[in-house]
Amino acid sequence: IRCQSTNTKEPKTNNNILDNASNLFTNLLSGGSLGSMPTAEGAVSDLFGKPLFLSLYDWFIEHGGVYKLAFGPKAFVVISDPIVARHVLRENAFSYDKGVLAEILEPIMGKGLIPADLDTWKLRRRAITPAFHALYLEAMVKVFSDCSEKMISKSEKLLRDSGGDTIELDLEAEFSSLALDIIGLSVFNYDFGSVTKESPVIKAVYGTLFEAEHRSTFYFPYWNFPPARWIVPRQRKFQSDLKIINECLDGLIQNAKETRQETDVEKLQQRDYSNLKDASLLRFLVDMRGVDIDDRQLRDDLMTMLIAGHETTAAVLTWAVYLLAQFFSILLLNSQSPAKIRKAQSEIDAVLGENAPTYESLKKLEYIRLTVVESLRLYPQPPLLIRRTLKPETLPGGYKGEKEGHKVPKGTDIFISVYNLHRSPYFWDNPQEFEPERFLRTKESNGIEGWAGFDPSRSPGALYPNEIIADFAFLPFGGGPRKCIGDQFALMESTVALAMLLQKFDVELRGPPESVELVSGATIHAKNGMWCKLKRRSK
Ligand code: HEM
Repeated sequence: IRCQSTNTKEPKTNNNILDNASNLFTNLLSGGSLGSMPTAEGAVSDLFGKPLFLSLYDWFIEHGGVYKLAFGPKAFVVISDPIVARHVLRENAFSYDKGVLAEILEPIMGKGLIPADLDTWKLRRRAITPAFHALYLEAMVKVFSDCSEKMISKSEKLLRDSGGDTIELDLEAEFSSLALDIIGLSVFNYDFGSVTKESPVIKAVYGTLFEAEHRSTFYFPYWNFPPARWIVPRQRKFQSDLKIINECLDGLIQNAKETRQETDVEKLQQRDYSNLKDASLLRFLVDMRGVDIDDRQLRDDLMTMLIAGHETTAAVLTWAVYLLAQFFSILLLNSQSPAKIRKAQSEIDAVLGENAPTYESLKKLEYIRLTVVESLRLYPQPPLLIRRTLKPETLPGGYKGEKEGHKVPKGTDIFISVYNLHRSPYFWDNPQEFEPERFLRTKESNGIEGWAGFDPSRSPGALYPNEIIADFAFLPFGGGPRKCIGDQFALMESTVALAMLLQKFDVELRGPPESVELVSGATIHAKNGMWCKLKRRSK
């Protein structure tokens, strides 16, 4: 098993102390008792060599699908077992809250869906879910392709200006701008224009994301100490960034309320997005719920979607390119190597020709869709889901057929390691390999009691594989009631952007794959960016 988990093509990892010691201090303070659970103990020194989620993988191989990670009197429970994950996320979802994650995000997202208390969450989830209607998604494909077109045009201009046939670009930065522009337009009809310019609002959004990342990876929550917001420079900057974004969002909310028109409301009620000037989620929420809707709540909702939908999508595109672009490099050296990027481009040429993707053509871009999903399998965003028990709980036995599960006290912090589930040698063939085709293989249930195994046909009609196909061994968007609300949006957005990039350019990593250093905060990043060589495709 250890051999299987070694991948020479894996990116390097960065010795990121903040990341590795995540929330250690908080946990050291709160004590815990977890009976006979296997323990990864005294491993603090191990934590300083690589991102936390990678260490959790090694301990999963050593200790199994449910183990505790003990630091002195405090322990986290780490779950890498699909049956136990299904229990926590779906069957018993309301016995857990988001624990430390909610504490970190509350100052930024207020009562938005991610950190919200249960009562608020129920109300808001019910209000926001209809906004992601299939016809809204269909209308958004045009936004995805228009924004991607701007990114492509910018790259083409850089290429022309360079006078050569190749340019080097940090695609992680490009995708980050692209995802910000898309989320701005589709969530609140605001054009950040960040692919082509910088503005105080853009800087404030990045500053806020940076602070969220800092808070999720720092030892102890010093920012809760009131004077910190005046004394600590980064906290002063955070307050000023929040003010800039809140003013921008408040202005957009006021404008949406003042321009509410009955004709638009009728169109939205009939889900007729064809002639709507503004098809954004904000428009939907204001038009459908009326102008009495609480501004503060609306702002929290928008802020949550801005943060939740930006870095995640940018990260998926970054790692999809990383996985594809190294196959291009190998191809140049060895024509026998699997030419995944060529396969992707052949599909794009056959389906799109020179045209931009549409909702209908997305359905035919099967290989690109599976590439996006396979990238999420290998690099899940975020790699860990966080929960805390609201009462004493008994976890179920795991996939090995154990009858008895473990008892966990109230207040226990839990990591569901999506990374471990997605790379588990127990559930996937060649788990470390990039094989988009794997989702096309048919497989019957492997017969393990209580776990339905891997079978893509279990989710008929779905455009993208989801958590149902592998019965919670695959969790690209979580599962159960708190599953991502923007999953289809993000998958379509990624498919459009990737297809349009590869339609126009051959993309190759600038250096060897091993030179890409991996760091993690809320999502998995390339430490020094994802530098690639882009060459105009000759047809
Ligand atoms: C929740 C992943 C894009 C909005 C989640 C969760 C995951 C996830 C794993 C569940 C977290 C948990 O259970 O603790 C992703 C990935 C994305 C993406 C990988 C991109 C590829 C988006 C987009 C939006 C969005 C585009 C909105 C436009 C949300 C919200 C929640 C959420 C609001 C909280 C749902 C709730 O608690 O009811 N996301 N997400 N996400 N996501 Fe996404």
